[in-house]
Amino acid sequence: MNILSIESSCDETASAILSFDPKSPNTSIKLLSNVVVSQIDIFKAYGGVIPEVAARSHLEAILPVIDRAFSDAGFLTPEEKNNWEKIDAIAVTNTPGLLGSLLIGTLTARTLSILHNKPLYPVHHLKSHIYSAWLDKNDKGRENPPSFPLLSLVVSGGHTQIIRMPSDNKFEIIGTTLDDAVGECFDKVAKILGLPYPGGPSISKSALSGNPEKYPLPIPNIKDLDFSFSGLKTAVLHAVQKEVGVPISYPSHKLKNLLSPEQIADFSASFEKTAVEILIKKLKKALKIYPDTTSVVFAGGVSANETLRKTAEKTLKNLNVYFPPKKFSGDNAAMVAISVAHEISSGIKPADPRSVEILPRSSIA
Ligand code: KG4
Ligand code: ZN
Repeated sequence: MNILSIESSCDETASAILSFDPKSPNTSIKLLSNVVVSQIDIFKAYGGVIPEVAARSHLEAILPVIDRAFSDAGFLTPEEKNNWEKIDAIAVTNTPGLLGSLLIGTLTARTLSILHNKPLYPVHHLKSHIYSAWLDKNDKGRENPPSFPLLSLVVSGGHTQIIRMPSDNKFEIIGTTLDDAVGECFDKVAKILGLPYPGGPSISKSALSGNPEKYPLPIPNIKDLDFSFSGLKTAVLHAVQKEVGVPISYPSHKLKNLLSPEQIADFSASFEKTAVEILIKKLKKALKIYPDTTSVVFAGGVSANETLRKTAEKTLKNLNVYFPPKKFSGDNAAMVAISVAHEISSGIKPADPRSVEILPRSSIA
């Protein structure tokens, strides 16, 4: 069967078509199209996402993006119209995310579901991020997918959570950030250092020529399996102020003019190393508490980070460690489709398209 998926929770408008056989969902998976239109270029100028601008951009992009998903999959009628006969179900991200952004994707999916009489599956965004690790880089289902019980470290712009999955489609949050998400921290530190939005990739690039030992930064002492990243951001701010010799009242947006390229690279490398250390330390603690874990799945935009990938591979040697292929680590609709493929093969029923709500904030469990 074929799933058409739609993702618009933040600043990417995306649609994909994925084919699979519900009896063997993993080995049969084939991604037929995967279209992502990013608004990053718009938001570079502002240094961050402006929700209303994001919603308006989704409104402009969403129908052309869906059309493109049909044409890339070869799903056009002889009259070059979208061939809805080929589609068996629609999947859409309805939670969590920016209100206006979610509204565009969800209302589009609801309307298409009613218009073309297709079952509609609303999906939690973090669930999709986790299942992105079931895809391989050749747009197929992995031959050896993650096994259960597993622990997933979900690291994105809005979330930092350790999620335990005892089995397919089942989630328990065992750790979460008490304040900022790690991706948000990358974005805020990049702003202090004068690096472009989004901060994650620009900090990583800058860190390549930096010395990670140059500026020691504190590892917060947070109880249980929870995280905190707001202190790390403030620690970087104060370290930069100290380095350039200004008081802590000095405005952070003016600091970039006082830093040399070498200092920026050293701060990037020191910050990145510390952020990764915080994540891996908590993950190792979680693995001690849940010794039955067989796989570890990294998910979300920050899972593209090379330092995180290398550190995880080095320190979690005895486990099966999975990262999504880089093209699926940021927001996309392929991950939305694959998570619904798992729902369909487990017998989970579709929703009533007229009553699918949008929830800007909601928990996976
Ligand atoms: O999952 P995602 O695309 O969107 C959300 O669901 O939030 O994650 C976006 C976040 C941003 O904060 C971005 O700076 C971060 O992922 N990110 C990275 C990297 N690439 C993206 N962080 C660290 N290293 C990267 N290479
Ligand atoms: Zn995301």
